[in-house]
Amino acid sequence: MNRDAITSRLTGKFGRILECHAELGSTNDRARELLETLGEKASGAVVITSRQTEGRGRHGRAWLAESGKSLALSVALWPQLGTKGITCLPLAGALGVRKALMDEGVECRLKWPNDVMANGRKIAGILLESRFSGDLPQGLVLGVGVNLGQGPGDFPPEILNTATSVTMESGLCVEFEAFAASVINALEPFVTEALLAPGSLVDSAAGFWIHERGSPLRVTTARGIIEGRFISIGEGGELLVETGGGLEKISAGDVAMLRYGGQ
Ligand code: BTN
Repeated sequence: MNRDAITSRLTGKFGRILECHAELGSTNDRARELLETLGEKASGAVVITSRQTEGRGRHGRAWLAESGKSLALSVALWPQLGTKGITCLPLAGALGVRKALMDEGVECRLKWPNDVMANGRKIAGILLESRFSGDLPQGLVLGVGVNLGQGPGDFPPEILNTATSVTMESGLCVEFEAFAASVINALEPFVTEALLAPGSLVDSAAGFWIHERGSPLRVTTARGIIEGRFISIGEGGELLVETGGGLEKISAGDVAMLRYGGQ
């Protein structure tokens, strides 16, 4: 990986501290270490690899990142403004990745809470990890995983029918460094907006969701399964679902989209 080919393309403050690793356990873990060592000075630091041996996704699931075929990138953040907007950071991540992918000609939409989808299949995922001291965030890590060069044979059977990559969608091989820089540049304004004006970030994402208003959903949450119709995304990034018992505001879960008229 050519670090200079990334830094020479950076346009903002993200990536002024930039670590590029040929292989890493998890970029989120390394970004967390930077926060622990440097504190606030680590804000905007970026850690990148294309091969993660212990990458993780939401709900503790494994996230595969194979050398040369994946981008695994984490941004260390130290918000100055308390907790405002933090729940919208994963959406900011998804919007940034979506923009970088759209710039490569890959048409993408968002699936709640923060999956980036191409042709109905997942092409990228976002994992926000935070640590608090009382109510105050002690640094956050926004992790982004993007499938770049995988072919169908590269995905394990359990995600073979639900995952895709840039190469599968466009037939193209993206240049790793240029794409990494494009993601870093795209993330910064969305992250800033999430922290300063989360409501406006949610509004700007309104046209990008895969869910249509009124479409039936099944959401698996820690409280159990909730079924209802999609209404909208709330100001804090929550999923608003109309159920038989009223409006449910769901802040974490996995969505399955059901067909109209039953399953
Ligand atoms: C998901 O479950 O959809 C989220 C996947 C997030 C994966 C990324 S890859 C970079 C960063 N490091 C990790 O260990 N996970 C995130």
